[in-house]
Amino acid sequence: MKLKVLALPGDGIGVEVTREGIRVLEHVAKKYKHELVLSEGLLGGIAIHKTGSPYPAETEKLALDADATVMGAFGLPEFDNAPPDKRPEKGLLGIRKTLGVYSNLRPVRAYSALVDASPLKNHLLDGVDMIIVRELTGGLYYGTPRGITGSGPEERGTNTMTYTRAEIERITHMAFNLAAKRKKKVTSVDKSNVLETSQLWRKVVVEVAAHYPEITLEHLLVDNCAMQLILRPAQFDIVLMENMFGDILSDEGSVITGSIGMLPSASIGAKKESGAWVGLYEPVHGSAPDIAGKGIANPLGAIGSIAAMLEYSFGLVEEAAAVNRAMEEVLNSGNVTRDLKGTATTEEVGKAVCEAI
Ligand code: NAD
Ligand code: IPM
Ligand code: MN
Repeated sequence: MKLKVLALPGDGIGVEVTREGIRVLEHVAKKYKHELVLSEGLLGGIAIHKTGSPYPAETEKLALDADATVMGAFGLPEFDNAPPDKRPEKGLLGIRKTLGVYSNLRPVRAYSALVDASPLKNHLLDGVDMIIVRELTGGLYYGTPRGITGSGPEERGTNTMTYTRAEIERITHMAFNLAAKRKKKVTSVDKSNVLETSQLWRKVVVEVAAHYPEITLEHLLVDNCAMQLILRPAQFDIVLMENMFGDILSDEGSVITGSIGMLPSASIGAKKESGAWVGLYEPVHGSAPDIAGKGIANPLGAIGSIAAMLEYSFGLVEEAAAVNRAMEEVLNSGNVTRDLKGTATTEEVGKAVCEAI
C-alpha cells in the first residue's frame, strides 16, 4: 500500500524523537512491503526562523495533500515573550484546526516493566489502561473574543470558552464508539457546578449516551478527576473532556505510567472516502528545552504515535501491533532512556525497536 506521510519534526527534542519515529516507519514499510512516500515540512519555531510564520502556507498545502502527518514538538524559549501570532505553538493550533482533527486520543497504560519508574505505589498501577479523549479544536484555545486590551489597572486579558452542541456531540460519539470496543465505560469530565459550557457539555453527553445503552456513563468534576487519576487510576476506561482539561489531565496521566515521554497521541478528524481517518500523530510531550540536543529524549511516545498512524490512517492493524509489541520488548529489555531510569540514547531505543520488529 502507498503511505504518503508528511513529517513535521519541529523544535527541540521534537527533531530527535521524530527521527526515531521515521526510522521505525521506514523499517515497517520495508518489512511489510509498503511504498513510503515521505515529505518533510516546517512548523513551529523552526518555521518562524526560516519563513517568518509558525504555520507557512506551504506546510498547510503539504498537510492537506498527505494521507497522514506525524509531528514532533513545537516551542522554543526564545519565543516565550513573542506576540501570539509569532509563537511556535500557534502553528500547532493552526494545523489542528485546518485538518479539523477534533478528537485527540491519548492512551495511558501501565507497562509491567515500568512500575518502578512510576511515582505511584506499584499496586495502584495494576490494570491501568485508559484513553483520554480530548476535544481538540474548540474551547478556550480557539474561542473569541480573545486578546489583551486597555491599559493601567484596566489592562485586561480575555479568553472565551465556548462549545456548540454539534462540537460536543461528535466528540462524544467518538468516545462511546471507542468504549464499545473496550471496557464499555465512559467518564465525562466537566466543571458543571460552575461553567455553562460544562452544563451544556453534560446535557449533550447524557443525550448521546442514550444511543449506547450497553455503555456505562459516569460524570466527574474536573478537580475530583485530577485527584482520582492519582488515587485510583485503574477505574478509568474512556475519559472524555474538553480541550484545556484534556491538556492538563493528560500530562498528569502520562506520568502515572512512568514518563511523559511514553505517551503517544492520535488526533482524528473526518473519515475520508477511502475509509481512512484524517489524522495527525504526535507524542504528548513538548520540545523539552532542558534536555534538547543531548540525545537522551525518550522516543517511545513518538514511535507509539507511528503505530497509531498505521492503525487509524492506514488500517494496518498488524503492522501497528508489531510496533507496539516491539516497544514492549524493548521496555522489558531495560534498554531505555534516562527518564525511565535507563542509560540508552534516543537513537539506541529507536534502533532497538526496529530490531525487535
Ligand atoms: P515538555 O513536555 O517539553 O517538558 C516537561 C518535562 O518533561 C521536562 O522536564 C522534559 O525534559 C521532560 N520530557 C518531555 N518529553 C520528554 C521525553 N520524550 N523524554 C524524556 N523527558 C521528557 O513541557 P514544557 O517544558 O512545559 O514545555 C516546553 C516547550 O514545549 C514549550 O514551548 C511548550 O509550549 C512546548 N510544548 C509543545 C507541545 C507540543 O508540541 N505538542 C506539548 C507541550 C509543550
Ligand atoms: C499539547 C501541548 C499543546 C496544547 C500546546 C503546545 C499548544 O501542550 O499538545 O499537549 O496545549 O494542546
Ligand atoms: Mn500539553
